[in-house]
Amino acid sequence: MAAVEEEAGLAGFLLRGILLFAVAGGSVWCNSVERKIYIPLNRTATCVRLLNATHQIGCQSSMNGDTGVIHVVEEEADLKWVLEEGPHAPYVVLLDGELFTGELMQRLKGSSRISGLAVAIAKPIPSKGFSPGLKCPNDGFGVYNGSYGPEFAHCNVTAWNLLGSGLSYQDFGFPIFLLQDQKETEVIKEYYKKHNRPEGGLPPEYPLCAMQLSSHMHAVTSTVTCMRRSAIQSTFSLNPEVVCDPLTDFNVWSSVKPINGSEKPPPDSVVMAAARIDSHSFFWNVAPGAESAVGSFVALLAAAEAIHKAPEAQALPRNILFAFFQGETFDYIGSSRMVYDMQNGKFPINLDNIHSFLEISQVALRNGSDLWMHTDPVSQRNHSLQSAVQAMVGTLKNASGSTSLSLREIGLTQPLPPSSFQRFLRGRPIPGVVLADHQTTFHNRYFQSIYDTAENIRLQYPEGLTPEEELNHVTDLAKSLAEVSTVVARALFLLAGGSNDSALAVEADPETVTRLLYGFLVKANNSWFQAIVKPEVQPYLGDDPLQYYIAVSSPVNTTLVVQAVLVNLTGTRMNESITKEQCQNLGRGAQADLYEYYWAQGPLSSSNASSSSSSSGKRSPWCVRSGVALSVASSPAFELEDWASQEFSTWTESRWKELHARIFLVASKQLEMVTLSVGILILLLSFGATYFINAKADLLFGDAGGVAY
Ligand SMILES: *[C@@H]1O[C@H](CO)[C@@H](O)[C@H](O)[C@H]1NC(C)=O
Ligand SMILES: *[C@@H]1O[C@H](CO)[C@@H](O)[C@H](O)[C@H]1NC(C)=O
Ligand SMILES: *[C@@H]1O[C@H](CO)[C@@H](O)[C@H](O)[C@H]1NC(C)=O
Ligand SMILES: *[C@@H]1O[C@H](CO)[C@@H](O)[C@H](O)[C@H]1NC(C)=O
Ligand SMILES: *[C@@H]1O[C@H](CO)[C@@H](O)[C@H](O)[C@H]1NC(C)=O
Ligand SMILES: *[C@@H]1O[C@H](CO)[C@@H](O)[C@H](O)[C@H]1NC(C)=O
Ligand SMILES: *[C@@H]1O[C@H](CO)[C@@H](O)[C@H](O)[C@H]1NC(C)=O
Ligand SMILES: *[C@@H]1O[C@H](CO)[C@@H](O)[C@H](O)[C@H]1NC(C)=O
Ligand SMILES: *[C@@H]1O[C@H](CO)[C@@H](O)[C@H](O)[C@H]1NC(C)=O
Repeated sequence: MAAVEEEAGLAGFLLRGILLFAVAGGSVWCNSVERKIYIPLNRTATCVRLLNATHQIGCQSSMNGDTGVIHVVEEEADLKWVLEEGPHAPYVVLLDGELFTGELMQRLKGSSRISGLAVAIAKPIPSKGFSPGLKCPNDGFGVYNGSYGPEFAHCNVTAWNLLGSGLSYQDFGFPIFLLQDQKETEVIKEYYKKHNRPEGGLPPEYPLCAMQLSSHMHAVTSTVTCMRRSAIQSTFSLNPEVVCDPLTDFNVWSSVKPINGSEKPPPDSVVMAAARIDSHSFFWNVAPGAESAVGSFVALLAAAEAIHKAPEAQALPRNILFAFFQGETFDYIGSSRMVYDMQNGKFPINLDNIHSFLEISQVALRNGSDLWMHTDPVSQRNHSLQSAVQAMVGTLKNASGSTSLSLREIGLTQPLPPSSFQRFLRGRPIPGVVLADHQTTFHNRYFQSIYDTAENIRLQYPEGLTPEEELNHVTDLAKSLAEVSTVVARALFLLAGGSNDSALAVEADPETVTRLLYGFLVKANNSWFQAIVKPEVQPYLGDDPLQYYIAVSSPVNTTLVVQAVLVNLTGTRMNESITKEQCQNLGRGAQADLYEYYWAQGPLSSSNASSSSSSSGKRSPWCVRSGVALSVASSPAFELEDWASQEFSTWTESRWKELHARIFLVASKQLEMVTLSVGILILLLSFGATYFINAKADLLFGDAGGVAY
């Protein structure tokens, strides 16, 4: 009997083999069908999941992506079909950018008939403004709280970002994609018109056009949950499965006079000048940040150049430190880390060295000549600090004397706007001023959104210029920002102890400002940026505008480019005959405590034609000595493994396997049912056949069994 069973097993095995073949053949067939009917969407951005100590925000799809019949919503009335009438739920809504608002999203969020959302980017930018950020950005992580100016906490006095809908900070249960290319949106709309559009209130006939959105996220609940899981896994497993990563990058900083990092305690008194270099939007890695970041740090870069060019700069009684903070959008990652490092002796200077603090906040959208000086009312309750702040305010006014800007004071009834300076105030009362184009609510109507672009700050070029001509064309915006830079540079010069006469000679260069604006907002892959970066950084220069999201794989493009620019604007070129190796060795030599050495790849040589036909061309590189350095911009919460921290940023980004969107035609439900039934029938038949063969095995294979013995 045992033998017989064996034989039957063999027959079953053969049968299963045949079935397997059939199934495999079927899936090959399916794949070829897939190739014919799926149309991938190539220019999309995705809303992903971010987590903090207590919440998850953002979006995700189910494991294999979410699918729905496409319905185009061009006005609010079109929603009725999706939410109530249409018989083909679930739907993927293709929403016109103008309609992507907080109220409409609340309606979609509450419906089980929605499986996903594709937002078509609005062109021109929506006139009524759009900000998915919070009305009170970074609330709870600045200086104001229950014990420090409680009357100013939670933006009680001023809602800085009045248009903020908070969309970026909500949790959506369905995937949301941005369609960045109008041509692709048109393709989808064509399909919709052909197949899906209800005619005269009647539902359309199959086949229908559907969209599949895949953005499954691995991390859930909160940073505490996902970091704890990673930590446990890494103690027990060689290949820990990480599901989320802290938002991390680098701050860029430099000082006018070199600071010897090994010397303790540091001797200098330092004037700090700061700006942020990051922003955010609802979608991953889309953060144009023109007004919220670029205008500010470009103004500070140009001010740094102006000071370094002044002959007296090295002889100033106080040093000046320029800081460009990363990750400020996410509860002040960069500045909180620098303060933490200063307090723990891990930064070349400490908090007590800081004489005064000048921050450039949003400054590119000025109303006429007004620039507002924001100060902290709480620390000014101490008279000695108040007189220091007032002296600073006087210095700034003095510095603006011969320019067309008028620097305006704000009374003691209003707190500081969201600013890196607040993190320094948390550490120690320091006299400081935050410069901004707004007195109360932001002038920026697109704060932390996809529309905070060059268009928002009215960066315009005449028609018909080549990229090279645009790079060097001095725009009105550049002239107006250069004035801010000049005031900032002169004020810093005076604060550092410079004389009135020599301060007057300090002037920012509008040509530098215009090239910076072009490089950071229009095209990073321009001849100037190409010349000043290291060869390794060249691939980071794309033809599209740079994005200012901090991300988790550091350093990001922006950090590297800001570093290269600061090196170029504040550094000193070394002797032409120095080679790359010598340049690197200098960085390890006797003056390594004081300077950094940067190998710039240089411009394309003009005598290019004679060299080989290689397309990369020949460059004439050089070595630059500067005081520019990077410092870690990672929240101390992760250093301390305090993932529930209330004091430091706890933002992490979930990991995912894939992000993609595609459209395809679906056959009718009946046809799908037929396909399914046939499948089930075949399955049942094969069970039957197996049973039959098993049962009659002794008959079928009986003889063979006999022979075997
Ligand atoms: C985490 O983010 C959510 C959404 O913005 C917010 O309500 C919550 O207060 C944050 N938690 C902490 C600890 O900051
Ligand atoms: C995306 O690219 C693929 C391959 O180049 C192309 O077949 C497809 O049509 C593109 N998608 C759209 C929506 O244009
Ligand atoms: C920096 O300071 C350290 C400690 O005081 C000293 O040994 C070193 O020579 C200094 N470096 C330079 C370049 O002055
Ligand atoms: C005011 O600030 C100064 C310097 O920071 C400090 O020495 C002094 O004790 C403070 N005065 C009061 C009343 O807190
Ligand atoms: C610099 O100019 C300001 C304003 O004109 C004046 O108050 C101050 O005394 C001057 N300082 C010096 C050292 O001349
Ligand atoms: C940048 O421009 C150069 C030509 O100027 C080109 O060779 C290179 O491919 C471009 N890089 C990117 C990332 O587009
Ligand atoms: C940033 O750098 C990456 C990696 O080199 C590159 O692929 C990407 O195009 C760059 N992004 C932008 C916006 O320039
Ligand atoms: C900065 O870049 C310009 C233009 O590429 C170059 O002429 C200049 O020498 C550079 N300066 C430094 C200090 O690298
Ligand atoms: C550069 O270095 C070469 C060789 O070391 C030397 O002859 C030349 O004088 C140096 N040039 C300058 C400007 O220092």
